Order: sequence, then C-alpha cells, then structure tokens
Amino acid sequence: MNFKIQISKKSKTENQIFLINKESKLKDIISNDKTLKKVKSLLNKSNKSTYLFDGEKISYFVLLDSKLETNRIQASNCFKTLTQLKIDSIAIVSEEKADLNYSFLEGLLLSTYTFNKYKKEAKEFVLNIDVLEKVLSKDELNTLQINVEANSIAKDLVNEPQSYLNAVQYAADIKALGKDAGFDVTIFDKKKIEKLKMGGILAVNKGSIQEPTFVIMEHKPAKALNKKPIVLVGKGVTYDTGGLSLKPTANSMDFMKSDMGGSATVVGTMYGAAKMNLPVHVIGLVSLTDNRPGLDAVAPGDVITMYSGDSVEVLNTDAEGRLVLADALHYAKKYKPEFVFDFATLTGASAAAIGPQGTVCMGNEMNEKTKEKLFKSGIKTHERLVEFPMWDEYGELLKSEIADYKNLGGPYGGSITAGKFLQVFTDYPWMHFDIAGPAYLKAPVNYKQYGGTGVGVRLMLDFLSNY
Ligand code: BES
Ligand code: ZN
Ligand code: ZN
Repeated sequence: MNFKIQISKKSKTENQIFLINKESKLKDIISNDKTLKKVKSLLNKSNKSTYLFDGEKISYFVLLDSKLETNRIQASNCFKTLTQLKIDSIAIVSEEKADLNYSFLEGLLLSTYTFNKYKKEAKEFVLNIDVLEKVLSKDELNTLQINVEANSIAKDLVNEPQSYLNAVQYAADIKALGKDAGFDVTIFDKKKIEKLKMGGILAVNKGSIQEPTFVIMEHKPAKALNKKPIVLVGKGVTYDTGGLSLKPTANSMDFMKSDMGGSATVVGTMYGAAKMNLPVHVIGLVSLTDNRPGLDAVAPGDVITMYSGDSVEVLNTDAEGRLVLADALHYAKKYKPEFVFDFATLTGASAAAIGPQGTVCMGNEMNEKTKEKLFKSGIKTHERLVEFPMWDEYGELLKSEIADYKNLGGPYGGSITAGKFLQVFTDYPWMHFDIAGPAYLKAPVNYKQYGGTGVGVRLMLDFLSNY
C-alpha cells in the first residue's frame, strides 16, 4: 500500500485538502481567513478546484460534484500536484455528504497504486492522510481501504508476468491471499483435473510445459443472507499465445500476460468480500493455464470432450478462453447457485466494440431486481456495463459438422458467439462479463495506471455489499 490513512481529531500537518461545494458553510469559514480570501474569488471565477502553495504548505480546494466519477478524477489531479510538490502528508477537511467525500478519497487512494516489484530503484511515495472527523465514519473508511486493497491485488496479479505467475504459482498465491483475508482455498492439480475429465482446461494446457490448476475459493459467513451461493467464475489464462493458431507477435501478444484478468477480478473480489466479512455466501472458481503451441498442443480440427460431456471441434486454438471457462461453468452447477457471474478477457471483438470505457455483458434470464442492482453498481463505481443480446440465431453459428459444437462463431458478433458458447454450459441464472477492453491499459487514464486495472472488483464489492 502506498498510503496510510486514518481518522483523526486534529491534523498533524498543515497541508490541507478542503472538500467543499459552492454553497457550503466551510467555504465561508475558509473565506473569512485572511490568507485564504484570495481563494474565494479564484473559486468563484473558475468554478474549478484550485490550490495555494506558499513553498511549504498547500491549501487545496476541491469543488465536489454530484457525479462521483468527477470527484475521483479531481482526486487524481490533486494526487499529481502533491507528488510534483513532493507533499506526502495531508489532512482532508470536509462537511459534505459522505458519498461525495468517499468518491474523492477513493480516487486519491486508487491514484497511489504502483507496481515496482521488478525495479531496482523504485520511487516509493507513501501518502499519509489524516481524515478529519465528519469526513467519513470508521466503517466507511474501513470499507474504502479494503476496496482499494482488493483492487490492488487484482492489479498486481495482472501486472505479474507469466515468467512468475504460472498456473501452479498462481494457485499458491491465491492460497496465501485466502489465509490473509480469511476465505477457504482448494486447489485441484493436473492429476485431479484429469480425474474429473475437465477436457476444456486439459486441451488448452496440452501444448504447455506448465501444469494447469483449478482453484475453488469460498467465503461462507455464519449468517449469510443467501441460502444458495453466488458463484464467481474467472478466466485465468496466464499467457495467451493463441496456441497453434498463433497470434502475430507484435501488439497482439505483448500484453497477453493479462489474459488472466477475469480470474484476478474473482480473486480480488473474494479477498474484499472476506475482509469486509460481507454477509453473503460467495464461491469463486478459476481455471488456470497458459495457452501455447507445443509438440503436443491441441490442433485446429481436433475434437475434444468437455467436462460436461459435450464434444467440441476446436477450429481455432486462440478461442481458448471459452474452453477453460466452460469447464468451470459446468462445475458451478453442483452448487445449485442462486446465480453465476463469469469474468473474462474473452474476445477482441468486445474491446473493438466499446473499448476500455466499459464492460460488455450478456447472460441468461435473471431476477430483475438483481440485474437492476448490478447496473446501478456499474454506474456508481463507474465500472459501467452494456448488455449485448443473446438471440438464438447467434447460437446457430456454433454448430459443427462433426461435433456437438465448434469453438468458433461466424463473421460477426464475436463477443456474442463467445457468450452463446458459454451459455451451453449453464443451467442457472447467469451473467457473463467480457472485460477484454477495460482490463489492461497501455497508457494511464486519471486514477488508473498503465497495466492492469482490476476492473470488476469495485463493481462486485459494491454489488455484494448491497445484496
Ligand atoms: N485473450 C483473447 C482475447 C483478447 C484480445 C483479450 C485482446 C484482450 C485483448 C482471446 O483468447 C482470443 O484470442 N480471442 C479471439 C477469438 C477468436 C479466435 C474467435 C479473438 O478475440 O480474436
Ligand atoms: Zn486466445
Ligand atoms: Zn485468451
């Protein structure tokens, strides 16, 4: 963590961040102070956040907005200023509404994330934040901190190269996270996966010299609100070369260590749910393997038998995500879940359709209230969702001449045919989230850094908190 944050009665620093709104009392109080009188006119003129720096201390004024995302972005600008001025100790003062304060602090904490593990000289900048009373309650601060921590865990996992994070190592890391946060972890090794005949995972793993793993996480509080568990499923392709249907090296393969982004979302969410001790029974399932061309790699044209017993003609080995997910989705049936969500960097088509601005989702029929809450969380966290149609015609494109299905659709609707393939392996209320667009950034945007974004973690933690 690159921050220390605590609620305090008095600030130990003279650097102050004032969260205000146009009509707020605080602004009047501030404007009665002689040295700060200038600010009032500045604020009135620009109607934007501004600051005074006297060479030693800063007084930073943030005009809060009713749009939470605006406050997060303002916070990232504030953070930039603080780092430039090398100010690492601040106090937050506010008399505004908790949700507005929360969004500003969230943007600020998210801005502090760095991934320095492989740097000889890491620029460590730890921001020390005194949150004055009235800004947030202890519980709100606790929730905020866990949220950001859970998001960072997902980012770390995505940013780790496959040279470290192979399927076996990844499973061990999840085990350690479970110990830390208090969720149960069960690991299936290759032998167990073979015994269960998880043919999708095994097919993708065939060209690899690393063994696959399948990891089950469980957060089961004593007094859960749900009788049937919520199951979260994640695609954990630790590296996607495309397999024998090899991706062109330049551009398309450079970032494929991020192809386990969906599983990172699930792990981060499990971590947060357990640490917050949310009163919901949640199970996480992730299929972990890399996808490589090897002497024994699955070849286009091969027919494989999935864990469900269905046969699949593999026409493109680069459409591997749906194969590893299908086995996990079939496994989820044994829990008789209330509903299942899966997260996956599944198709370039989703990224092409809406870019990093949001997540493409689609699924089976679901309780309308649950769905409403889900989309509401999407707007609140700004991890926005857009739903694609699951019309029957798209499913026709998956018919094979020689097997039950093929793993490839037609010339259009690439995200949807991938979703239709997954749907075959579900028999419960289900939503699929294709995060290929927002999971990984090649340039920083506001409070999001270069690399993994941990998208989906804040969405899920907000959603589960409102269950
Ligand atoms: N991991 C990729 C999808 C992807 C692409 C994620 C770009 C993030 C950024 C996935 O396994 C894949 O290669 N999908 C193919 C499917 C196609 C062969 C049907 C794709 O989208 O091109
Ligand atoms: Zn692929
Ligand atoms: Zn992939």
